[in-house]
Amino acid sequence: SKAELDARIRAAKATLGDRVVVLGHFYQRDEVVQYADFVGDSFQLANAALTVPEAEAIVFCGVHFMAETADILARPQQAVILPNLAAGCSMADMADIDSVEEAWAELSAIYGTEPDASGRVPVIPVTYMNSSAALKGFCGQNGGIVCTSSNAATVLEWAFERGQRVLFFPDQHLGRNTAKAMGVPLERMPMWNPRKALGGNSEESLLDAQVILWHGFCSVHKRFTVAQIEKARASHPGVQVIVHPECPMPVVDAADAAGSTDFIVKAIAAAPAGSTFAIGTEINLVQRLANEYPQHTIFCLDDVICPCSTMYRIHPGYLAWVLESLVGVDGGPSVVQNRIVVDEAVAAPARVALERMLSARP
Ligand code: 13P
Ligand code: SF4
Repeated sequence: SKAELDARIRAAKATLGDRVVVLGHFYQRDEVVQYADFVGDSFQLANAALTVPEAEAIVFCGVHFMAETADILARPQQAVILPNLAAGCSMADMADIDSVEEAWAELSAIYGTEPDASGRVPVIPVTYMNSSAALKGFCGQNGGIVCTSSNAATVLEWAFERGQRVLFFPDQHLGRNTAKAMGVPLERMPMWNPRKALGGNSEESLLDAQVILWHGFCSVHKRFTVAQIEKARASHPGVQVIVHPECPMPVVDAADAAGSTDFIVKAIAAAPAGSTFAIGTEINLVQRLANEYPQHTIFCLDDVICPCSTMYRIHPGYLAWVLESLVGVDGGPSVVQNRIVVDEAVAAPARVALERMLSARP
């Protein structure tokens, strides 16, 4: 039962004390978030993994790429645990390393490898945090960098200073929305389809490109539409529409603001009582904000419930299991279940790309 699970999780956490830190992404369900020592967006959670060097274990209530990132940044002795190994991210899976390497070879054949007169290399690879450790490693190895939805513009600035153009993975929407806001014209942002030669582009359009967008997307955020925004504005005059930048460009353009999950949380926290918000992001976060701020009216743009099905796979039952295993069952030894380990050959260059992000400043 729920009460039983609650008691088990609390007892295990109390026994473990500072030996374990539980991190929770904003999209986790309330039944999990209540046990998190830190709750945040993907950037904040990557930083959090760096701030708990004494913990033996980091239990990451989020998805696979986030746990990989924590393992890359954590000390070698620290175990990063993903309570359910089936909690992946379909967007991250859209940029597999083999397709990326093929694309890189095709682009290198067009652009060459020589820097221009101002020392900028032909292409800088930039990957969204929502990607495999292998892709982060690829970026680290090829002069590239990682970004999250909270620092994408800063990271693109960093990349444009060092490269003539950017190859952006895996989320076409975050790439397009960010580059557009920075003044890059749409016609200079061709999309790369890994199933087609030259990604489905002509050589001329690639030579003219400023940002080449990998054709990945988030299946949760692509559901939001301009029609939903129009409906919210008609039914709630004065509503503020805030969406995540993984939404398609017309949706971001029609919204009042777009930003990371933490941006959305802070915008609501700062609003005067009685404000009305229509939010375009994952439902668990929106519902929690609606409960936390009864003085506001907060609703999801999409009235058909749209959870991130993989975030939802972190059930409190799995959390209880990994924590109790760490305690040791019936006086037995402490066991680390579901450890996420990134091989050092991949982790080392991935760390380079992550550290570039962590030190890039606006
Ligand atoms: P944030 O970086 O805003 O937390 O987003 C992560 C994510 O997976 C959004 O779908
Ligand atoms: Fe991946 Fe989308 Fe889920 Fe975020 S909401 S973890 S991008 S599938």
